[in-house]
Amino acid sequence: MQKLIIKGKRELSGKISISGSKNSTLPILAATILADRANIKNIPLVKDIFTMVELLNFIGLKTKINKRKNLIEIKNYKKNLNTLAPYKLVKTMRAGVLVLGSLLTRYGKAKVSLPGGCAIGTRPVDLHLFALKKLGAKIKIKDGYIFAEAKKGLKGTTIKFPSISVGATENALLASFRAKGKTILKNCAIEPEIKDLISFLKKLGANINLKGRTITIIESKKNISQVSHEVIFDRIELGTYIIACALMAKKKVIINKINPKMIKSEINLLKKIGVNIKKYKSSLIIIKNNNLKSISITTKPYPGFPTDLQAQLMVLLTQANGISKIKEDIFENRFMHVPELKRMGAQIEIKNKTAIIKGPTKLTGAEVMATDLRASVSLVLAGLVAENRTIINRIYHLDRGYEFLENKLKKCKAEIIRI
Ligand code: EPZ
Repeated sequence: MQKLIIKGKRELSGKISISGSKNSTLPILAATILADRANIKNIPLVKDIFTMVELLNFIGLKTKINKRKNLIEIKNYKKNLNTLAPYKLVKTMRAGVLVLGSLLTRYGKAKVSLPGGCAIGTRPVDLHLFALKKLGAKIKIKDGYIFAEAKKGLKGTTIKFPSISVGATENALLASFRAKGKTILKNCAIEPEIKDLISFLKKLGANINLKGRTITIIESKKNISQVSHEVIFDRIELGTYIIACALMAKKKVIINKINPKMIKSEINLLKKIGVNIKKYKSSLIIIKNNNLKSISITTKPYPGFPTDLQAQLMVLLTQANGISKIKEDIFENRFMHVPELKRMGAQIEIKNKTAIIKGPTKLTGAEVMATDLRASVSLVLAGLVAENRTIINRIYHLDRGYEFLENKLKKCKAEIIRI
């Protein structure tokens, strides 16, 4: 098992380029099932992307990844694809469930493994199935698999999601691509990754309109079979590095290949804490500020503060003056980084879904264990600011979602090695 060893207290300076968004690439890869040919640019070379590509290959699409150019070419000329997403692939990467909508709307049937839970929660897919049933799919759950069928195709209708779900919105969007008539999705997730998926589907001829939290899809006669698309930047990776720089960038760090407009709310929140951020058209400059203010925040669906930055923000708040509170309102078990941070000296208590963080506290290096993707990167951030050496185990979690993390930090003078 690989580990990361970090020598703390190294001042960061230099430049960081942000990679393409994992959470935009995954649904767009599922959407390539709807095309005959697709070229996707700016994809992040991370484990979850390779797992999704393996799933597309298993289904029968022809894929070719050009790692030097962060590009993937996908061809799909088979008439009868293998419309199966097996447990071994979906269990490690739950976004595999997104092929359900695409397979159903283009081939009229799909057998997809239930994704099962993960460290941060049970991660049910009831909202996905609720939407597909509304569109006329016959759904049966048997032996841990979802059997979905729509022999006569799917029929557009109005669907109001009882609660906001990124994945369910994406699956419903994919399924409604070939649905007859008009589909109106209400109470949708509207993350930038959803908007990126919508722009991809429009290039395939879809007639989609997003207003507020309502997405309207009207059956389109335009049948475009080839598409080229550049994925947006990863706003969660960006938020992670802004926090790393807020903690340790004595001199300036330039973060580029981004669009600051897309993470306005996160930038405003970090500025409220006192993070020194200068915005430019496609980059930011961050300089450390020793006088950080405590805050209280609750994680919310976009445009609220993202749950995927909750663990990283917690590390920043261990260095802020006073008592901060973070309420995790999206997932039921997303505080597994807290016991590890406490072993490094953080003073954090959890009271019903709220973490109470006392700062500023001196962190000291320790041997710690990663548990999920974002928890593991919070341990890296803590290692950067802690005295002495931090050893992080189980870093395969990190490799699922952060491209070249240690290289990007090393280029900014962090002392971090993988063994
Ligand atoms: C997406 O997961 C992201 N993953 C997650 O990022 C992110 O944390 C999450 O959205 C919230 O923003 C990808 O995009 C691949 P949800 P998703 O459906 O779609 C409940 C990361 O670190 N729910 O919006 O699975 C669910 O249990 C990952 O990159 C149902 O109850 O999230 C959760 O409590 C982690 N029934 C809440 O809704 C359902 O059918 C939000 O989940 C679906 C979800």
